[in-house]
Amino acid sequence: MKYRFIVLIMLAMACGGCSQNMEVVNSGERLEDSPKPIVDANAAPLSRPGEEGAAGADDKAKIPPFVKAYFMHMWVEALYSTPGNKHPNPKWESPLKDSANGRVWCTDCHVSQQVDFSKIPKMRDAMVDDLEKDKTFMAGLMKKWVARLNSDEFGAKAKLKGTVTCLTCHATNPELD
Ligand code: HEC
Ligand code: HEC
Repeated sequence: MKYRFIVLIMLAMACGGCSQNMEVVNSGERLEDSPKPIVDANAAPLSRPGEEGAAGADDKAKIPPFVKAYFMHMWVEALYSTPGNKHPNPKWESPLKDSANGRVWCTDCHVSQQVDFSKIPKMRDAMVDDLEKDKTFMAGLMKKWVARLNSDEFGAKAKLKGTVTCLTCHATNPELD
């Protein structure tokens, strides 16, 4: 008896669901008429699985954006103050034309209208400790950043004295070190 009662309730719930769906379908709205999503070609979606590029990156696809944000902050700071990597170039000097008033900033490279990257804070997380030691991961990120820094398509290049390489900040090739 009790069992039948439950079945009745479940049926009622299922029907409720049906009629709700019917309403949506009959509202007169058609897929063709709904606004198209706008694609911003310059925006890196906050999670883009498998974008790491370098070998062995597949297992790194789920790294939360705020972990990368920590490294980005470290890297941007290294353009105007002594780099915080393991073996900084002992003769490091800022590659910027004006390291006080002409700094490269997040929005030079992240031109998305949807996400203001300059508001993503620098937060040190347990994942940072592990990834910092992962040379392949770090080198993969740095290659992308250096490429965009030197690229004509973004605003950062105009602030540089010349082309930036890994050895601008690292004493020796950081991939072998
Ligand atoms: C010289 C260019 C450059 C600058 C300056 C820069 N970024 Fe990036 N950033 C990149 C590139 C290139 C990527 C990789 C984009 C991709 O996923 O393809 C990236 C990735 C990221 C990601 C990861 C996004 C994701 O989808 O997982 C975050 C978060 C981020 N940057 C934050 C910042 C912050 C915060 C700053 C300023 C402190 C900054 N960036 C400055 C070039 C830059
Ligand atoms: C603007 C300065 C700068 C440039 C240019 C740069 N790096 Fe780095 N790199 C850093 C900083 C700062 C860290 C430390 C990040 C952290 O641990 O939080 C780092 C860390 C690393 C690490 C992890 C080991 C270590 O030394 O801390 C590797 C590997 C690495 N970079 C590779 C590269 C490669 C490859 C290039 C060239 C494609 C490059 N980097 C260019 C600043 C730079």
